[in-house]
Amino acid sequence: MDAMTFVLFGSTGDLAKRKLFPALYNLFLEQKLPQAFSVINLGRKPLSDEEFQAYVEQSLHTFSRRKPEDRSQVEPFLRNFRYLDMDVTKPEGYRELLKRIEEREKELNIPENRMFYLSVAPEFFDVIALNIKESGLGSGRGWKRLIIEKPFGHDLPSARKLNAKLNQAFEEDEIYRIDHYLGKPMVQNLETLIPANPVLKALWSNQYIANIQITASETVGVEERAGYYEGAGAIRDMFQNHMLQLLMMTAMHLPTPVTEQNVRKQKSSLLKSLRPICKTEAARHVVRGQYGAGEIHGQAVPAYRDEPGVDAASMTDTFIAARLWIDEFFWKDVPIYIRTGKRMKEKSTRIVLEFKDRLKEQNADADRMPNLLTIQINPDEKITLQLNGRNPLKNGRMEPVTLDFSVPSDQMPEAYELLLFDALKGDATFFAHWEEVELAWKWVQPLVEAFEENLLPLHVYPAGSFGPAMADALLEEQGFHWWHDE
Ligand code: BG6
Repeated sequence: MDAMTFVLFGSTGDLAKRKLFPALYNLFLEQKLPQAFSVINLGRKPLSDEEFQAYVEQSLHTFSRRKPEDRSQVEPFLRNFRYLDMDVTKPEGYRELLKRIEEREKELNIPENRMFYLSVAPEFFDVIALNIKESGLGSGRGWKRLIIEKPFGHDLPSARKLNAKLNQAFEEDEIYRIDHYLGKPMVQNLETLIPANPVLKALWSNQYIANIQITASETVGVEERAGYYEGAGAIRDMFQNHMLQLLMMTAMHLPTPVTEQNVRKQKSSLLKSLRPICKTEAARHVVRGQYGAGEIHGQAVPAYRDEPGVDAASMTDTFIAARLWIDEFFWKDVPIYIRTGKRMKEKSTRIVLEFKDRLKEQNADADRMPNLLTIQINPDEKITLQLNGRNPLKNGRMEPVTLDFSVPSDQMPEAYELLLFDALKGDATFFAHWEEVELAWKWVQPLVEAFEENLLPLHVYPAGSFGPAMADALLEEQGFHWWHDE
């Protein structure tokens, strides 16, 4: 891997301490970082390099999956960290930054490869990118890359505007857009699961699959993020990105060899085949909800509208369920149900494929269940296949066959580790390409507008439930129901 400088904007923020420092540290322990590297951290607090290194060390003790045992273990890692107090909106600061970067490049004798990670509010993305260009920071003799994380715009026009600005400073293949769901090991596994298993590949179509259900339910509420969430809602926060990525990763038919280009082509082609839902039809295919007061794990929790920072008459969606259709050869007529919500009964991210049972009508077996393939992403990572077989020891109850991918949690790499490692290698397979982002916004845009114009009802669901009952009706229309664990 190329020696490089990692320039972290927003280094005193939440993401850096919770995810980025631990991810870099674990990569370091696994010798997956280059031999020589420099990390230049930027923030608004006045801190010395030593104070900042102590701050990083503290974050590793609190958030890393592997805790540093003693100073000697962590010191060689921290030694690479420098800190600069800088206002990212002012061009002056970038000259000082360039000086610091070049000094370190000389000291370490490393090439001018620079990775810019913008862990800052999205309104700074374009300002920073342009300053990187104008200051000459991006004109080194090595490679340059930009990592940003959603939200990429808040609707189609703003996403396009942002992208045009980024493109003034970075080429598309230099931009790594993080969707952290694409860093989850089980989601990455989907890339190989189908091509590598002829038994699944043979069944991966409307011939055998009756419906697909994709759920990401959370028990947490809006937390301290009302300022952002009020203007976003579940549709922008989860649906436009994570949920559509899960759908694409599930429905892909990848030719071998599996390459970055193939994955991107397939994903874009699936998004293009997603049947549009127009504004006036949204209410027929989409359910939006907002949590009311309720109980989570026996604890009373307030309604969304009573959360700090939330408007008492807020119409923001904290839940969305939708029925989608992919109008292409393999998936024609297979309904795809997607739902995501906050303050639901359980934290669970899973994809369930329900198989057709053509013989069922002729051979009515009262308790016969459909075959289900469940790909569980969270809380544990496992694949479960539900077959029909009776267990004589349990009154003939049917039992699912389980393929368990779980490894002890301190050995399971975190999404950010996998993604940073890929970005450092220059592999963009598990990053969102602009074409995907744009197509996803295009598809979601009429729904965003329908929500804003209140063209569909807002169903209040009790915290701790599976969401509004209307979300069940979406499936009942085709004779299906959501598959839960119980
Ligand atoms: C983030 C959203 O992208 O994903 C959060 O902004 C959400 O609102 C989070 O809680 C869920 O991620 P995970 O990995 O916990 O499923």
